[in-house]
Amino acid sequence: MEQYQELFLVLQLVKVAYGLKFLEAFSTEVLKPAEAGILSRARTPTINFVLGGPGVGKGTQCTRIAETYGFTHLSVGDLLRNEISSTSEYGDMILETITKGKIVSSEVTVKLLKKAIETSEADRFLVDGFPRTEENRVAYEQIIGIEPEVVLFFDCDEEEMMKRVLHRNQGRVDDNIDTTIERLKVFEAYTLPVIRYYTEKGKLYKINAIGTEDEIFERVRPIFST
Ligand code: C5P
Ligand code: MG
Repeated sequence: MEQYQELFLVLQLVKVAYGLKFLEAFSTEVLKPAEAGILSRARTPTINFVLGGPGVGKGTQCTRIAETYGFTHLSVGDLLRNEISSTSEYGDMILETITKGKIVSSEVTVKLLKKAIETSEADRFLVDGFPRTEENRVAYEQIIGIEPEVVLFFDCDEEEMMKRVLHRNQGRVDDNIDTTIERLKVFEAYTLPVIRYYTEKGKLYKINAIGTEDEIFERVRPIFST
């Protein structure tokens, strides 16, 4: 309980900082990054992030990367969807947010991600679909605090993303034209700034996501083959 109160407080601070638009100063002077090891695990795991717009093929590529290079794949979208079908108190809110193509509050998302990392024995993770916003990123830094080694960005034009979403037939509530238009807007407005942030930090690997699954995977290989 105490742990959640702390988490809640940190998120309130993050939100206030955003509201007042002095996040940079605020986050470095007042909110120090969490010490690695805040997780209840003996060893700090390696974390990589995987980003890209809707339908770009993050999940498909993550499965292959995980199999080939020994990572555990954590799809944050899947973590959220699992909550909908459970008895979670957040289920209804998550369903509504995903249906609209909006972003679930970091308070919930980072809590789920933290639990997934803590309850896994794995030492190497591919975290897919996160951080989607600067708010996600800052909350992660405060609450989990493990610097990602690599951030992959699967890049593809919007028309192609829309086509792939509408063709994938996985029965997802958000794979329709209206929601995907919103998801593309969210991607541009909220995720691109995160991508810029990691580019400036020298952590971003941009991969051309046009082509066959095999062709795209061949572009990813050199990053993990060293
Ligand atoms: O990554 P994926 O396409 O599976 O995500 C589906 C939806 O889950 C997103 O459109 C968004 O509504 C929600 N989501 C989120 N925050 C994240 C990841 C996913 O709100 N970090
Ligand atoms: Mg996915």
